Amino acid sequence: MDRQALQERYGIIGESEAIKQVVDKIMQVSGTDITVLLQGESGVGKDITARAIHSLSKRDRKNIVIVNCGAIPEGIIESELFGHEKGSFTGAHEARKGYFEKADGGTIFLDEIGDTPKNIQVKLLRVLESGEFFRVGSSKMYTADVRVIAATNKDLWELVKEGSFREDLYYRLDTVKIKLPPLRDRKEDIIPIFRKFVTEFSSKYDSVFQGFSDEAKELLISYRWPGNVRELRNVAEQLVVLEKSQFIDKDRLQKYLKGRQHLGSTDNLPVLSRKDPEDEPSGQQSSTDTGIIYRALVEMRTDISDVKKMLAKFLYSTFSEKEIKALPSAVSRNIDPNDISGHIRDQMDDSSLGIRSVDTTVEEENEEEIDEIEQFFADKEIPSIEEAEKFLIEQALKRFDGNRRKASEALGVSERTLYRKLDQYGLQ
Ligand SMILES: Nc1ncnc2c1ncn2[C@@H]1O[C@H](COP(=O)(O)OP(=O)(O)O)[C@@H](O)[C@H]1O
Ligand SMILES: [Mg+2]
Repeated sequence: MDRQALQERYGIIGESEAIKQVVDKIMQVSGTDITVLLQGESGVGKDITARAIHSLSKRDRKNIVIVNCGAIPEGIIESELFGHEKGSFTGAHEARKGYFEKADGGTIFLDEIGDTPKNIQVKLLRVLESGEFFRVGSSKMYTADVRVIAATNKDLWELVKEGSFREDLYYRLDTVKIKLPPLRDRKEDIIPIFRKFVTEFSSKYDSVFQGFSDEAKELLISYRWPGNVRELRNVAEQLVVLEKSQFIDKDRLQKYLKGRQHLGSTDNLPVLSRKDPEDEPSGQQSSTDTGIIYRALVEMRTDISDVKKMLAKFLYSTFSEKEIKALPSAVSRNIDPNDISGHIRDQMDDSSLGIRSVDTTVEEENEEEIDEIEQFFADKEIPSIEEAEKFLIEQALKRFDGNRRKASEALGVSERTLYRKLDQYGLQ
């Protein structure tokens, strides 16, 4: 297969030198079992690259199991990865396979590998070197024939230097590295990718794209895209939905870009910038912020439903129905047995805990809710996410007389997160 055919088949758009090199590397490594490390900021295309490598390989007939090492709670990551024996910990009613066993014959994609706890890193090194591992609570050695693709948006060497990542694992992973540069460093890819998304969403939402002005085009190219291709996709979707069948000029586009800040990780929600008063003609909250709020809400909803699914999956695989019923209501009202029906306990599938895949039902549900949310906000002044969060925290603490455990439970966050937020907002 040549480069162009591969790009078409996997929907990898781009003509930049960087994309060409990425695609060439995909072709070089996919026929082998060599471990590959994908490095790049969030939203640059690590997932699609991993999938392309897997599906071009002879392991294609088996699964690619996608594990987000940063999203699995520390207490269960070992059993998620390597499985456990019946009775190995409270609630382990059945023996269960881990992701490595599930990926046997296929590929495991360890996303956000830099966030793996150190005690697990030793075990990963072992599997990488010999394919051997132990289930939790067992001294029997298992082996799995698995190809490993890892990804990180961090500089792993920095993590090694600061002591949170093992040097031996670093060298083991660093043999073949594919660097995916941020979108702002390959500006010639922006317009082609944007066109692709706009075309896709126009047909999805039954809308006609009327094109965009030269100035709008320049703005797309000069914008920093902290969220990379993922952000570009979101902007394209919003333009298609909220500016339905309108010609996109610079001002229309600006609304969806302006004021977006880049807070640390690109995975963070966007917040409203209050720092550039010149941009805000009246000093008031302008209606143009609706787009930003909308996007934040879409992302928040998706995140929350992912979290709820993880919670459901964890609880149902760990506790009995009776124990689950006895859980505090703040927990139980957040779990839906349907999230795990059909694949609970030892047969969870790829769409559950720590394994991300696009869930279309979540997207559809979001669309409906967004309508409602938009209605709700149509004539109101909108607080920033931070203000809203701060307000909710204050309310929860007031209601529970300052009891942080209860407040965090009601808010559906961990106590640790609540402490961090209190600190962040300077609350007592
Ligand atoms: N070169 C590209 N061409 C087309 N779509 C892309 C490209 N790179 C990324 N995408 C899309 O952008 C979104 C984010 O990509 P993803 O692979 O999930 O990024 P990452 O894993 O690095 O965060 C996905 O919808 C993906 O399909
Ligand atoms: Mg990813």
